Amino acid sequence: MHYRELFLTFLALIVKSTSEEICISRHNINVIEGEPFYLKHCLSSLAHGNETNTIRWSKSHGSHVLAKLNPRSSPRITVHNYILEFWPVELNDQGSYRFQMGNETKEWTLNVIKRDEHSCFSEKLVKSKKVAVKKALLINCKNSYYEKWINKTSLYKNCEKIDENYKSLSMVKNAEFTDQGYYSCIFSLIRNGKLYNVTQTFNITICEDLNNKNPVLLGPKTNYVAVELGEDVELNCSALANKNDVIYWSFWKENESYTNVHEEKEKTTWISEGKQHVSIILRIKKVDEKNLNFLFNCTVTNEGSTDIQSFILLRKDSTDISNPVFMRGMIISVLISVAVVCLVVVCVIYRVDLVLFYRHLMGRDETLTDGKTYDAFVSYLKDCHPENGEEYAFAVETLPKVLEKHFGYKLCIFERDIVPGGAVIDEIHSLIEKSRRLIIVLSKSYIGNEVRYELESELHEALVERKIKIILIEFTPVSDFTFLPQSLELLKSHRVLRWKAEETLSYNSRFWKNLLYLMPAKTIKPGQGESEILPVLSAP
Ligand SMILES: *[C@@H]1O[C@H](CO)[C@@H](O)[C@H](O)[C@H]1NC(C)=O
Ligand SMILES: *[C@@H]1O[C@H](CO)[C@@H](O)[C@H](O)[C@H]1NC(C)=O
Ligand SMILES: *[C@@H]1O[C@H](CO)[C@@H](O)[C@H](O)[C@H]1NC(C)=O
Ligand SMILES: *[C@@H]1O[C@H](CO)[C@@H](O)[C@H](O)[C@H]1NC(C)=O
Ligand SMILES: *[C@@H]1O[C@H](CO)[C@@H](O)[C@H](O)[C@H]1NC(C)=O
Ligand SMILES: *[C@@H]1O[C@H](CO)[C@@H](O)[C@H](O)[C@H]1NC(C)=O
Ligand SMILES: *[C@@H]1O[C@H](CO)[C@@H](O)[C@H](O)[C@H]1NC(C)=O
Ligand SMILES: *[C@@H]1O[C@H](CO)[C@@H](O)[C@H](O)[C@H]1NC(C)=O
Repeated sequence: MHYRELFLTFLALIVKSTSEEICISRHNINVIEGEPFYLKHCLSSLAHGNETNTIRWSKSHGSHVLAKLNPRSSPRITVHNYILEFWPVELNDQGSYRFQMGNETKEWTLNVIKRDEHSCFSEKLVKSKKVAVKKALLINCKNSYYEKWINKTSLYKNCEKIDENYKSLSMVKNAEFTDQGYYSCIFSLIRNGKLYNVTQTFNITICEDLNNKNPVLLGPKTNYVAVELGEDVELNCSALANKNDVIYWSFWKENESYTNVHEEKEKTTWISEGKQHVSIILRIKKVDEKNLNFLFNCTVTNEGSTDIQSFILLRKDSTDISNPVFMRGMIISVLISVAVVCLVVVCVIYRVDLVLFYRHLMGRDETLTDGKTYDAFVSYLKDCHPENGEEYAFAVETLPKVLEKHFGYKLCIFERDIVPGGAVIDEIHSLIEKSRRLIIVLSKSYIGNEVRYELESELHEALVERKIKIILIEFTPVSDFTFLPQSLELLKSHRVLRWKAEETLSYNSRFWKNLLYLMPAKTIKPGQGESEILPVLSAP
């Protein structure tokens, strides 16, 4: 055989195979406006190769020819022998087309669909395909007829581009339910410098595999379960299985039986995403050493296949940081500690306010039952030197004004209430005994004054025997004193208040609050008259 003959035979074979692939035998054809389209007659083997026959293309209605089509009839429509091409199809191309060659004819009815501006494809032009889940999903974007003009091929899923390539492209994957959708292959053609699109859309439906499928257990092949000894454990084995598949637990050791392990008779079945699921529970009561590090196997099986999953119990490491329960516990306890610390700090800072508020709330009164007459004995400079005018005014005016008139306390003020003369020291002693607090207004001159000696024994008694509580009000910082009664140095610092006239005008000021805190709790009767504060020596 000559090479030429061989070549021609080969060519003929190719032409034959391709022409058979892409000729159009359907009668009714939907086509979208604006895209290239062609009609090609499928030659019968008889007519094939008969070159002497003349070919006629026409747009027709039944047997009635409306217009003959020839290469000159329209720039959009081209005719080459068995093929009629539209570049592109337009709405007015709708109608019947007839091919005639000898006594052989073929007719197609073309239905041109208007383009939907909001979609990349037309719903009337989709090819539906069903793919079983887990089976191969193949989308092949290949157009052999227009291949020589293709400049770019893009794949869209639900009109969103997912891939792009030059001549052709394809997508293969294991079908999942989420793969369902419309896949459009858009071929961009360039012909004579003009750009055309050809769209081919597949409506892919993912369905359940109707044939019996191999059952599969869900989750990893080996599962580690952290347990504590003595705890009850429930192992849940779930499978994707057919109705009649068998699922069971196996947990027998040779020559060993577990009395604390039971397989639940009831199986749970449910359908999710169209698939049948089944789960079976293994209960282990009071886990013991023998249950640890042993394979509890779950098996699902049918005639075709078997799947096994193992569960291994491990002793829980209680300090395991990765353990979420432990972590949560840690976080909660840290938070609680922080909250407690904050609360304590707040309580310390606002101790005075809290105590005063509590006293107010409870209406507490410590003064009712102790049989004492005065709430406080006020001691300060006895001799009224002109340079001590400020202390005098404080002790005789400010203090009573606030404590007596405003807060309803009863004070015994040496200077005011004790008539000069008489057995002063005895008097002081008995008055202090009748008082609940001893308020000392401390100033420089106080120290040098003889009152100091009178009070020294009282102070000593008060501090050492804790008979009376002392409140020290400083006019001058104690550190300035060169000589301080020794007993005063024993005084706790919170019992020392510093008087700063300019800051302490309001009843709500810190100074008065602190003073009230040190004073005995008493139901406050504001605005109590002076009449109750009788001169001490006139009392019986
Ligand atoms: C070719 O067609 C002509 C006219 O229809 C016919 O006479 C002839 O027999 C055909 N030849 C073949 C090989 O079929
Ligand atoms: C068409 O012509 C062929 C021969 O070319 C013949 O065998 C066939 O019977 C004819 N068919 C009709 C419908 O005339
Ligand atoms: C696509 O397939 C689904 C499922 O088979 C069907 O319900 C839907 O109507 C189809 N859409 C079109 C446009 O054919
Ligand atoms: C495809 O088209 C782009 C722009 O239209 C052009 O730059 C490129 O050369 C074309 N590619 C081919 C292979 O025709
Ligand atoms: C062809 O499709 C592309 C998207 O792939 C689009 O941007 C372009 O406008 C379309 N051209 C025509 C002529 O339809
Ligand atoms: C077992 O697990 C499956 C999901 O994996 C769940 O649907 C089922 O309710 C579980 N059974 C029990 C008893 O917890
Ligand atoms: C559990 O399965 C493993 C492998 O999957 C196997 O080696 C082991 O013997 C099985 N144990 C039981 C109790 O069936
Ligand atoms: C199990 O028991 C049988 C007889 O009761 C004995 O022959 C066999 O060795 C034992 N197997 C093991 C692993 O202890």
